[in-house]
Amino acid sequence: MQPRSARIEGWGYYAPTRVLTNADLERLVDTSDEWIQTRTGIRERRVAAPWESTATMASVAARRALAVADVDPAEVDMILVATVTSDYQFPSTAALVKEAIGAERAAAMDLAAACSGWVYGLTAAHAYITSGMYRTVLVIGAEALSRVCDFTDRNTCVLFGDGAGAVVLRASEEAGGGLLGFELTVDPNGAYNIWIPAGGNRNPVTAGTVEQRAHFIRMDGRETYKYATRTLARSAVTALGRAGLTTDDIALFVPHQANLRIIESVAKQLGLDMSRVYVNVDRYGNTSAASVPIALSEAIERGRVQPGDRLVFVAFGAGYTSGAAVLEWTADPARAARAAGIGADVSIHPPKDWTGDDPTPPELRPFFAEREGAGVAAETVASGAGGAEAAAAR
Ligand SMILES: CC(C)(COP(=O)(O)OP(=O)(O)OC[C@H]1O[C@@H](n2cnc3c(N)ncnc32)[C@H](O)[C@@H]1OP(=O)(O)O)[C@@H](O)C(=O)NCCC(=O)NCCS
Repeated sequence: MQPRSARIEGWGYYAPTRVLTNADLERLVDTSDEWIQTRTGIRERRVAAPWESTATMASVAARRALAVADVDPAEVDMILVATVTSDYQFPSTAALVKEAIGAERAAAMDLAAACSGWVYGLTAAHAYITSGMYRTVLVIGAEALSRVCDFTDRNTCVLFGDGAGAVVLRASEEAGGGLLGFELTVDPNGAYNIWIPAGGNRNPVTAGTVEQRAHFIRMDGRETYKYATRTLARSAVTALGRAGLTTDDIALFVPHQANLRIIESVAKQLGLDMSRVYVNVDRYGNTSAASVPIALSEAIERGRVQPGDRLVFVAFGAGYTSGAAVLEWTADPARAARAAGIGADVSIHPPKDWTGDDPTPPELRPFFAEREGAGVAAETVASGAGGAEAAAAR
């Protein structure tokens, strides 16, 4: 029988414990805490530890979401991982997550729509479920952006952070609830306004591309700012219209956390008081595809979401992509307690020729060495597991 709706039954997020502050960045590039806070609203961001990767962070978030939903990993039909910082060019990060969480039956694939990726994934999962094709889909947004940031470029390195968020979407025989309307757009005029020039097949790795630092994010901030502020409100209104709703119906607006000024501008265009907008960009920076599901999970944790609430998610990013989704919340927030015991430790089996090199950007290592002391034993890094114990032991 075709289900009548697809509902979010579980949610979870993971933020690495390493914190990179604006004061740290002042020691790396010509910037200031004052500049960063006034132009972006960011105070600090998280950085993945040596043993962490997009796949490990995604797996922790997924395990927490499954625990909240009370769903056995073997029941998952499909894992969608939205990311622009996959562990490898291939295999997909989703394949690694499948193994790490023990989702024996699941199909798994990555989805590349940059910062809009999780919103795109949510609509794809909704389509899978409401068509009757799958019953349980994990939609994860996960990024290790610290590994593609150029920590000599003040235009970009102050903006980004690492983390992961996940939801479990399930078929329901009850009508209503779940995704009510959406709008997805792409404007390829902005294709080269946020990008990583090298490392793909158009510009493979050479000594020259490494020397030009072409494997790091490049961005035209001003153009991207303009794109975001002229697109997001329009996308939200279109998605609301498809749901037969208006901005008055929004209980909580959960935007992509790229820049507080962008969020405030979009809220103003929508006539939304900031009390109806969830903001955590100050603590995480821009975590790309992970940003909306982290914000959603935190908002629930902080009592900002109740059954019956209409939530609006909006995101924009490289491509230029944008996505807006209107969702009616159905799950009891108290379920979150089920995930209380899920730790940060997951094991992703390393390739045979794994070297155990520390993937932390060299510019950042001194900060963490200073704070963490002697550092992590090579075997801990190489095993890809035991991160949480290693951190606890220090
Ligand atoms: C990047 C961004 C914060 C810059 O803020 P802005 O107010 O637009 O600043 P401008 O681009 O006008 O730059 C102002 C000056 O600050 C400088 N500047 C840039 N980064 C700086 C930093 N970290 N510290 C100090 N100065 C900085 C610029 O070089 C420029 O100097 P100039 O005028 O001498 O050339 C803003 O444009 C933005 O957030 N854009 C969107 C980016 C985004 O969201 N990207 C991810 C998309 S998913």
